[in-house]
Amino acid sequence: MLTSLKQKVVSLLKDQVPLDRKTILSSLELPKVLEHGHLAMPMFPLAKIFKKSPQLIAQEMATQLRLPPEIEKVEAVAGYLNFHFQTFFIQKELLENITKPLPPPAQRKKIAIDFSSPNVAKPMHIGHLRATVIGQAIYNLAKAQGHEVIGINHLGDWGVQFGKLAWAYLQWKDDYDFENEPFESLYALYVRFHKEAEKHPEMNEAGSAMFKKLEEGDPEVQKIWKEFIYISMQEYEKLWKQLGVHHDLVRGESFYNDRLETVEKILEEKGLLVESEGALVVPLDEFNLPPCLIRKKDGASLYATRDIASAIYRMEELKCDLNLYVVGADQTLHFQQVFKVLEKMGYPWAKNCHHISFGMYRFKDVGKLSSRKGQIIRLDEVLEKAVQQIKTLIDEKNPSLPQKDKVAQQVGVGAIIFNDLVNDRVKDVEFNWNKALSFDGDSGPYVQYCLVRCRSILEKYQKPLPTAFSQELSSPEEKALLRHLLNYEETLQKAFENFKPHLVANYLLDTCKLFNHFYHKHKVLGASEEKDRLLLVFCTQKTLEKGLKILNMEAPQAM
Ligand code: ARG
Repeated sequence: MLTSLKQKVVSLLKDQVPLDRKTILSSLELPKVLEHGHLAMPMFPLAKIFKKSPQLIAQEMATQLRLPPEIEKVEAVAGYLNFHFQTFFIQKELLENITKPLPPPAQRKKIAIDFSSPNVAKPMHIGHLRATVIGQAIYNLAKAQGHEVIGINHLGDWGVQFGKLAWAYLQWKDDYDFENEPFESLYALYVRFHKEAEKHPEMNEAGSAMFKKLEEGDPEVQKIWKEFIYISMQEYEKLWKQLGVHHDLVRGESFYNDRLETVEKILEEKGLLVESEGALVVPLDEFNLPPCLIRKKDGASLYATRDIASAIYRMEELKCDLNLYVVGADQTLHFQQVFKVLEKMGYPWAKNCHHISFGMYRFKDVGKLSSRKGQIIRLDEVLEKAVQQIKTLIDEKNPSLPQKDKVAQQVGVGAIIFNDLVNDRVKDVEFNWNKALSFDGDSGPYVQYCLVRCRSILEKYQKPLPTAFSQELSSPEEKALLRHLLNYEETLQKAFENFKPHLVANYLLDTCKLFNHFYHKHKVLGASEEKDRLLLVFCTQKTLEKGLKILNMEAPQAM
């Protein structure tokens, strides 16, 4: 429900109930069914105060309230006060607000979002799809809510594996075509090293020695390592571009190298560090968690140490209010440990660090996708396959479509994004190609197609749209769509508060379903209600456009 409409109810109730405006505002609910009106206020919290049943309070209030003209009626139903706004009034409110940005948040926050964050020398895999699209959607949600957002790429660019890779590079680089296929060559080196090291474990020692050189700043090894990062970033940039992803900062793991000593010092001073079999750990028994490993026996720092540093950097140096890590559920323990260590270090902001975790993809036909070299499902291959399939479909069904390649990109990539975001992130997802690419199921193409339909109706009108509604929309289909469109703002708020973009994706699906009900039943162009119906189409179009933008999906002009 639009905030402006909620405010009307708040003003009406504020002198009638012993609650402040904020409490009333946050208690207002959206009734599930159309018959229950546009907003509902539960009377349960008042039962104790008035010493009466909620339903009795609701009944008394319903008869006493002096309604403003915009509110048609108020009813007492099962302990709720249900408010029915005048249809014409909400048409007007919707149209006025549809192109405006959301009202500013009560408290503007600075938010760090760590997302996508792949590992140098390795192709992004299907797990990174989730880390990428969920992260970008939450980024967009936060921005749309008026917050300041910093998207961070916590690139996996440090660790003993880079000593191994440098060793492999010096040994075998001439076997590969680094000039023309730098990234594939790098990954091939990575896979080869690990395969051969199984037979020749001494290679691991050579790799560790090389990493030591890197840590000590040996210029030659440093140069090679930087090259690895450059090659990998070039590759990732291509994918991010295809997905429309944007980071504001690259702060790879290596960025924290010269901050780790400080982390250890603080831990030491606070008496939190304990030696255990030559390694340094922070015990977390009181939380029923295994100890957090800070430094290994051989002196090497760890992923966790760098994440402790990453949180301190974001909260103390960047001065963020909220620090989000969009990372798979397989790292739940890691983040629990990191956050508990921060809490023990006495940082009051530790509670504002959150692991935005997500479930895994399950594939039926892994065979077709798994890369020849490593056993992973590569993201670039998934996107390519989706685009190709859409292209084939367009060639079959609509061969004269202008800008076919562009549309295939928009629809193919959009399908993969939507197929991910439509699922509650905490759940595992069964990947099903038919479902993802279908044009009439709960899919990205279905939403894009509905938007294209709205646009084409408006284009066919060929005249400037009216600037205001002239009469009340009266059919149940129109009213249902109208009421749903009013809830966009609320949906966005909920999606952001819970970091759950699937609420937006599902809202868009419902929008399309309600629009299609309306459109199949009622003529728009040429009807006597033409002008008002066109405005309803316009509001649907705008809502779909805004929603797709939040999900980071493009919308084709035609399809
Ligand atoms: N590079 C890690 C991976 O690919 C994800 C990093 C997530 N961010 C973090 N601050 N730990 O699994």
